[in-house]
Amino acid sequence: MSHDVLIVGSGAAGLTAALVLAEKCRVLVLAKGALDAGSTAWAQGGIAAVLDKGDTFEDHIRDTMVAGGGLNRRETVEFVVENAPVAIERLADLGVPFNLDDATSGSVGSSPTGGSGALHLTREGGHSHRRIVHVDDATGWAVQQALLKAAHAHPNITLRPDMAAIDLVTDRHRIDPAGERRVWGVYALDTGSGPSAGRVECLTARATILATGGAGRTYLFSTAPRGATGDGIAMAWRAGCRISNMEFMQFHPTCLYNLEVKNFLITEAVRGEGGLLKNPETGERFMPRFDPREELAPRDVVARAIDHEIKRLGLDYVHLDISHKPPEFVRHHFPTIYERLLGLGIDMTKEPIPVVPAQHYTCGGVLIDLAGRADLFGLYAVGECSESGLHGANRLASNSLLECFVFGDAAANDILARWDSFSEPPAIRAWDESRVADSDEEVVIKQTWTELRRFMWNYVGIVRTNKRLERAAHRIQLLRDEIAEYYSNFRVTADLIELRNLHQTAELIVKSARARHESRGLHYNADYPQTDPAARDTILVP
Ligand code: FAD
Ligand code: SIN
Repeated sequence: MSHDVLIVGSGAAGLTAALVLAEKCRVLVLAKGALDAGSTAWAQGGIAAVLDKGDTFEDHIRDTMVAGGGLNRRETVEFVVENAPVAIERLADLGVPFNLDDATSGSVGSSPTGGSGALHLTREGGHSHRRIVHVDDATGWAVQQALLKAAHAHPNITLRPDMAAIDLVTDRHRIDPAGERRVWGVYALDTGSGPSAGRVECLTARATILATGGAGRTYLFSTAPRGATGDGIAMAWRAGCRISNMEFMQFHPTCLYNLEVKNFLITEAVRGEGGLLKNPETGERFMPRFDPREELAPRDVVARAIDHEIKRLGLDYVHLDISHKPPEFVRHHFPTIYERLLGLGIDMTKEPIPVVPAQHYTCGGVLIDLAGRADLFGLYAVGECSESGLHGANRLASNSLLECFVFGDAAANDILARWDSFSEPPAIRAWDESRVADSDEEVVIKQTWTELRRFMWNYVGIVRTNKRLERAAHRIQLLRDEIAEYYSNFRVTADLIELRNLHQTAELIVKSARARHESRGLHYNADYPQTDPAARDTILVP
């Protein structure tokens, strides 16, 4: 089936692009599971934008580049920062109920940038100003619902949940290959329960946008949802696109430590509003020993400090304590977290919260330009699956949703501007299942999945060494053959698609980490603790 534009992913990046494109063409949006099951709906903190009177674009640019260890591409940072206020305005127009300052509560006016100071701005690590617009502590949920409501209402947008893209359709899938470096859509497996469940469809379009989110689930502990398996990154790599800076995996300092609930984030805004990190045995603060910015140092610094304390003292977790603030203040600012913790027997207004670092964000991805274009004609990548140059070696808090809105819009506008150069898709070969059987060994997938995520956590985590990276590379090599054999003999399933992509992404992370002989931002290698004078990207060429 053919559409004008195919978007793989229904989070902030994919739906932003869809809403712009739908004004002029017919758009098909795919999601692997439910339409709101990506990271977007889980975002707590908010969206960074210069909206405060004392704040400036230059300050936001500088904070982004300081956090990014100087690896950011300045023109991208300027592009995103300068487009942030407009992006917030569009979201407010879509009905996102951003919090307002108490003195000015009511609805957000048509111009949140009008200098009225009406929006309530929180502060997060690495930001020199209050700059984060939010909807309580569940910003992503509000954004996802507003975008979905608008997409459902648009006659030119078709939303298809439960469609797992397997691979990009390229020239080599044409019935008559023409020798072009070109993308025409995807092959996707219907993972739903309807009549076409289990069938692989060839979905073609004049232009294709990957908006598939990150690869957090490459790690044993991650704040990301289960579907964050790096699918878009792996698909783009297999199709022939360059992938960059995959060694920069962000670990969030404060994920709840709980033996049952393994991936509940405690937003950085808790530290922004005065939360303190403490040794759980002595109650002593430790961040002042590590960085003059204390609890509000950038994430890599805070995560490494916590990791250091946990390992040095043999702890299971550290404490995050905001119980010195008035209970009403805590409940008012963090209603979702308060309720969730209370359900687990922790009253954050009275006692500290046990926390540990966990993987949180994928800074690297499909290398794109300022219009979201990837290396192959007709292919774009936006949001967390891309590497635009915004984050450099470490993403500044709350800059990622922002990147989704700015690049979702930029990619859509580029497609519309170049519409005449995108021809109708040619005839493409159907998916061939003639030589595969149903798997009789599902246990292999589960075993490999767990093994991979465990060694990535242990060997390619917050602190790396040459030996650990070498061990990880060796295991990846062993698993590669097993997965390839499995993939060529058995019918694809949702789990197999994810495992194959997870493995591919892990390989890209380890390759990139081994290529960097310095420590910078999120990549810390104890064998190369120095930071080189010149910052350079790690660009892997397929
Ligand atoms: P996602 O929202 O992750 O969406 C990915 C989409 O791709 C989904 O629809 C998924 O189904 C689909 N997909 C994936 N693979 C396939 C496939 N093979 N076939 C079909 N569809 C596929 N950032 C901020 O700026 N501020 C915050 O406060 C913040 N808080 C966060 C809190 C948590 C717990 C987490 C995990 C992240 C947070 N982030 C935050 C990061 C931010 O949420 C993400 O970077 C952002 O939402 C990514 O959006 P996206 O549109 O790129 O991808
Ligand atoms: C948080 O709320 O701490 C997450 C913010 C982000 O990831 O940008």
